[in-house]
Amino acid sequence: MTQHDFCLIIDFGSQVTQLIARRLRESRVYCEIHPFQNVDAAFLKARQPKAVILSGGPGSVPQADSPRAPDYLFEMGVPLFGICYGQQVMMAQLGGCVESGHHAEFGRAYVEPAKEHKADGIFAGLFESGREQVWMSHGDRVTVLAPGFDVIGTSPNAPFAMIADEARRFYAVQFHPEVHHTPNGAQMLGNFLRLAGFKGDWTMGAYREEAIAKIRAQVGSKRVICGLSGGVDSSVAAVLIHEAIGDQLTCVFVDHGLLRQNEAEQVVNMFRDTYNIPLIHADESELFLGALEGMSDPEAKRKTIGKLFIDVFQKYAAQIEGAEFLAQGTLYPDVIESVSFSGGPSVTIKSHHNVGGLPEKMGLKLVEPLRELFKDEVRALGRELGLPDTFIGRHPFPGPGLAIRCPGEITREKLEILRRADAIYLDQIRLHGLYDDIWQAFAAILPMRTVGVMGDGRTYDYALALRAVTSVDGMTADYYPFTHEFLGETSTRIINEVRGINRVFYDCTSKPPGTIELE
Ligand code: XMP
Repeated sequence: MTQHDFCLIIDFGSQVTQLIARRLRESRVYCEIHPFQNVDAAFLKARQPKAVILSGGPGSVPQADSPRAPDYLFEMGVPLFGICYGQQVMMAQLGGCVESGHHAEFGRAYVEPAKEHKADGIFAGLFESGREQVWMSHGDRVTVLAPGFDVIGTSPNAPFAMIADEARRFYAVQFHPEVHHTPNGAQMLGNFLRLAGFKGDWTMGAYREEAIAKIRAQVGSKRVICGLSGGVDSSVAAVLIHEAIGDQLTCVFVDHGLLRQNEAEQVVNMFRDTYNIPLIHADESELFLGALEGMSDPEAKRKTIGKLFIDVFQKYAAQIEGAEFLAQGTLYPDVIESVSFSGGPSVTIKSHHNVGGLPEKMGLKLVEPLRELFKDEVRALGRELGLPDTFIGRHPFPGPGLAIRCPGEITREKLEILRRADAIYLDQIRLHGLYDDIWQAFAAILPMRTVGVMGDGRTYDYALALRAVTSVDGMTADYYPFTHEFLGETSTRIINEVRGINRVFYDCTSKPPGTIELE
């Protein structure tokens, strides 16, 4: 198996550490984030990173028990780049001084080169207008530089905004080059990577080869079960694993009767017929819809679906003899959240549906081939594996499916009406070329009937809500500004084509204060 040169990112608990990784991958450099607790001299000797970036973090260097890097890091002769807390750690460990208090700075600042502007090295392509906008977010700051370091950039409030020991290729900045608000930050990190000797040759094709080799090494001749949801992550994981181990993989697709129009058929066709992946189509809609009958509380609905899902998955998985592994489409952001330095308990807004806890319960080991990737990288890998673009670009769909788009009591009649209306809404969005501009769009059937008039007759039918949002990660969202023409045309089509709906609303709530789904 090829072993890539890699850049190690030591995570001191910054909220934005994963953005560093993202910027590196945009420069086609393979990187791994490891929490500072796991990085000691033995780790560094075993893994031999080609360069190391020290992230920001919530700690305060002057405090005795605050996180540090192993001293060996500074002796191993590899280029280093410290960001914010990472800069302070470098100074504290290399003989400089860091002070707390009275120095907090948050927000936009402008850095100018301290020395005569060199157009190469760490400055290549930077400071073309004489200064660079950067994003500051720190409480402490460096007051005395460590021996060997020079100031190379300053801002009005940060005399040590950029510092370097060029001989050792140690660089450190007080601001955050990884965030969007430092527009040329990626260029700065890219310059560092070039100085460190990276060629920028990490590609999705290389990732695919490595991932396949890793899966084969992990699984050997054992069998793997993969729960397919029809979503992009589990699908890409399944296709990749199938490429690695062929029919040692069996997919289980739990159909809870809460899928969209034709969705089950599409999933079955694609995996069984196009990819020839052994697939169990567990049609358990009767079980799920039966259990949900008469239930209207959103959390009760979510919990019922989550529990049944696990039971059903277990039942089908037990039929696959000799399975020792469970494949999951876990992504990098999920991994990062789980090792977060500052992570504390947060309020449960909604109980998200997933299969957490299943592997222990079933005594299975996990295969998670997407653990190192971000969502858009998973999409790129999917394309590399030949999954169609129309599939790769699909909007996210929640585990509990239409149940949470049918507020109040769920009935088969309502689900059928909702499926038809939702399909027309999405058809409209595609016809108008808007699908890719929208993060997620769907219809929800409201728990109310309203009076209308059609032809010469009175109607008393359901009302439908249309929702469409833009978002980067689903954590915050804005409603999509459709034109009135679009909304009018779509409403007319739905009411004309779907019996059972006589009124259509458009939801123009952002998140917060709303959530994306209605329940
Ligand atoms: P909310 O409604 O919390 O949704 O603003 C944010 C994003 O998460 C999706 N979502 C879920 N996805 N299981 C999932 O896999 C769930 O239980 C679940 N609930 C919400 C939602 O569709 C949106 O993309």
